[in-house]
Amino acid sequence: MPANLIKRDVITALAARAAGLDQPEGNARLKQVVNRLLVDLMVAIDELDISMDEFWCGIAYLTQAGKQNEFGLIVPGVVLEHFLDLRLDEAEQRAGLAGGTARTIEGPLYIAGAPMSKGEARLDDGTDDGEVLFMEGQVRDVSGKPIAGAIVDVWHANTMGNYSHFDPTQTAFNLRRRIETDAEGRYRFRSIMPSGYACPSGSQTEKLLGAIGRHGNRPAHVHFFVSASGYRKLTTQINIDGDKYLHDDFAFGTRGELIPRVERVADAGEIHKFGLNKPFARIRFDFSMTKEVAGAPATIVTREHAEAA
Ligand code: DHB
Ligand code: FE
Repeated sequence: MPANLIKRDVITALAARAAGLDQPEGNARLKQVVNRLLVDLMVAIDELDISMDEFWCGIAYLTQAGKQNEFGLIVPGVVLEHFLDLRLDEAEQRAGLAGGTARTIEGPLYIAGAPMSKGEARLDDGTDDGEVLFMEGQVRDVSGKPIAGAIVDVWHANTMGNYSHFDPTQTAFNLRRRIETDAEGRYRFRSIMPSGYACPSGSQTEKLLGAIGRHGNRPAHVHFFVSASGYRKLTTQINIDGDKYLHDDFAFGTRGELIPRVERVADAGEIHKFGLNKPFARIRFDFSMTKEVAGAPATIVTREHAEAA
């Protein structure tokens, strides 16, 4: 079929009726969004001459993605979650907020309700013989003042790149903890070095990425939510330096400010001091929190998560 078969005003009229714009009932904001997305979709179909087969292939793809609960994976893979971050960054800048730790995507694999502890925690259950990782740092405000009682909610993958809860072979809340900062704003944890995550094989996400010539790998990373009363909630990650995919993250989550130095400790005295018998890795990373202000968009996001086990 040729492209551009339908006049723009016909599309506009169809979208308006389909979105209920001529009806008094219903949610005005939802109508606005549905109308706009329908216009954009019809224009795309017409301009690109999307065939019936292509259209229904797309619908079948989305149907299967929904059945497999994969929209949370597809969204970062097609850059939309990072795009939402860029919008929030820009809105904050315009609201005069500056100096906080860079945000990056939450991703689809957070589980609420991880065990809480004060000051420090061990994240791993001891069954994964990976490289031991000690990570520590301070939560501060933008002027450098420590924030006591902040909550560092941390989660990461195991040495296979898999997350507890989604990987049934791991114990509940393995590699997931909430740590309350001490009087000096410090947190500290022992864990194992994560491996990079890869989109599950056979997933709809992997299928799409493969079909457009991309891969579905992330560099190794550790996720954080940092919250403290009076401050804007921070959603971020650190990436593990040296990872093959560090600057080729399929989910677009890597940011230059979020790649701390990884110190490899092999000194026998240090190993002994840390209660270990093999070399380990150490990362220091401080979080800088901006104050909550009127007029800046909220950073506490309402989002469905998988239910805790
Ligand atoms: C995805 C997985 C992650 O571990 C992550 O941090 C971000 C995205 C994903 O599967 O899309
Ligand atoms: Fe992740």
